[in-house]
Amino acid sequence: MVNVVEIENLSKYYENGNVKALDGINLTIEEGEFVAIMGPSGSGKSTLLNMIGSLDRSDNGKIVVDGHDLLLEKDLSNFRSETIGFVFQLHNLLPMLSSLENIELPTYELKISSDEREKRASKLLKKVGLEDKAKFSPKKLSGGERQRIAVARALVNNPSIILADEPTGSLDSDNSQKILQLLKDLHKEENITLIIITHDPNIAQQAGRIVNILDGKIANG
Ligand SMILES: Nc1ncnc2c1ncn2[C@@H]1O[C@H](COP(=O)(O)OP(=O)(O)OP(=O)(O)O)[C@@H](O)[C@H]1O
Ligand SMILES: [Mg+2]
Repeated sequence: MVNVVEIENLSKYYENGNVKALDGINLTIEEGEFVAIMGPSGSGKSTLLNMIGSLDRSDNGKIVVDGHDLLLEKDLSNFRSETIGFVFQLHNLLPMLSSLENIELPTYELKISSDEREKRASKLLKKVGLEDKAKFSPKKLSGGERQRIAVARALVNNPSIILADEPTGSLDSDNSQKILQLLKDLHKEENITLIIITHDPNIAQQAGRIVNILDGKIANG
């Protein structure tokens, strides 16, 4: 099996070292795995996910994602566009754009035609069951619908890894399960590696593996 994430002795300190957000993390994730990250508030889960997505830099250690050594990688924004799909708790959709345009947004990092952009976005809109809402602003959508748009947006550049930080945190259990099912289907159909932070045991138990974080350290293997 290929390791899609290799992390060795990774640390991240804030406030001149007084806050150890991550403290010597060792973690390997194989291609196509579905991993749930759990742990108390403030334990370092988002810091770890942001590090894997190269949104944040470590202070020391080693982190290799999809073959890219992130501490040496020169073009991180290109790495992100081509490799990672992000889904956040607050979906960060732009209200002045339509649903379809929100999904298209990440494709502007790629050199593809506007026809191709629209084709990809329309296909995904259909996949998340919202083709009839293409022209709607996210302001006119429900929380669950917005999160489905956010998942579609995360997929539009065909990422090999999806990083989701409490993607169902603001949804009721019915909508949570729908979003999770969508992610699980993609994970299965396209062998996308899925890494989800969640506080919800019902979500976590559906993952292939649960990684528990406590005080910036991995509390299990
Ligand atoms: N920019 C920052 N400056 C200073 N401290 C920070 C910063 N970002 C995070 N921290 C601290 O690092 C620690 C880990 O934060 P992190 O956001 O990773 O926690 P988390 O496990 O995602 O928590 P939650 O479940 O509440 O989202 C916390 O103690 C937090 O206060
Ligand atoms: Mg967090």
